[in-house]
Amino acid sequence: SHSIDLAVIPGDGIGQEVVAEGLKVLAAVLPQDVKLETTEYDFGARRYHATGETLTDADLDALKQHDAILLGAIGDPSVPSGVLERGFLLKLRFAFDHHVNLRPSKLLPGVATPLAGQPAIDFVVVREGTEGPYTGNGGTIRKGTEHEVATEVSVNTAFGVERVVRDAFARAQARPRKKLTLVHKNNVLTFAGHLWTDVFARVGREFPEVTTDYLHVDAATIFLVTDPARFDVIVTDNLFGDIITDLAAAVSGGIGVAASGNIDPSRSFPSMFEPVHGSAPDIAGQGKADPTATVLSVALLLRHLGYEAEAARIETAVAADLTERGDRVRTTAEIGDALAVRVAG
Ligand code: IPM
Ligand code: MN
Repeated sequence: SHSIDLAVIPGDGIGQEVVAEGLKVLAAVLPQDVKLETTEYDFGARRYHATGETLTDADLDALKQHDAILLGAIGDPSVPSGVLERGFLLKLRFAFDHHVNLRPSKLLPGVATPLAGQPAIDFVVVREGTEGPYTGNGGTIRKGTEHEVATEVSVNTAFGVERVVRDAFARAQARPRKKLTLVHKNNVLTFAGHLWTDVFARVGREFPEVTTDYLHVDAATIFLVTDPARFDVIVTDNLFGDIITDLAAAVSGGIGVAASGNIDPSRSFPSMFEPVHGSAPDIAGQGKADPTATVLSVALLLRHLGYEAEAARIETAVAADLTERGDRVRTTAEIGDALAVRVAG
């Protein structure tokens, strides 16, 4: 029989509440013979204030033992900006080689979009997760003077670009429309842009069934609003991916339903799954947060571990729940309970 050994990081703010519902649905969807083991870790603002630590080498060693990681949200206004971002979130992505940041956007029935005419939105962004301007490569000289100069170097390696582009091609190949769009800015960022464009063309020759397309990132933001139905799979660098996935979430139901995976496809390290939203301290502890994004992240987690049928059951349950949701405001736990009942049934 199988087992899942899961590291659980509820984190800060609403992270606590939404992760509880995610685990509820996970327990309900798994067959009897799959043993689920969870270990909770207390990373986040409280741990930082108590110990000054964000994520130690010992923490990484402990996390490494698990099959996967479920994260709620990390971040609190009491911690200076950048400390938990660099010291926890990015540190974990880099340490565990999470080079595929997978962010699906699907406008489900019954979900409101600010776009006119309810377009059919069903695409997935493969955002590079370990390079680009996120590497912390840069510096400041003459700090604090009127002659201060700051650089933030975008690092792009042939190895890093090729592996994420290849992953995106494989994902496009597996989808009915088989279409892959490269998003970059190769008319201005000519060094990194040409590397991406060259690798994209070369790897593409191995996937003759996949239709390819290129858009500058500014043009991509236009189409994400005016014609999102044109997209199937998008591959892009770390920073462009950060920006367009927030836009993608905004047009396809909002961050209440946006799920993500930080994936090491080679499986050398456990992958981490988390809602795209943050810790929302303004509504924390009130039972107001929508756990749907976390529940959909659990579906991505299950798919990554090979539980395709269970992942699909969760997605079907969420679609049904959203369709029948109506106007009644439900608490975080009520939504989790309803989803748990649906996936078990
Ligand atoms: C995200 C977040 C992070 C990022 C921040 C919090 C470091 O915005 O997951 O999209 O920029 O990747
Ligand atoms: Mn972001």
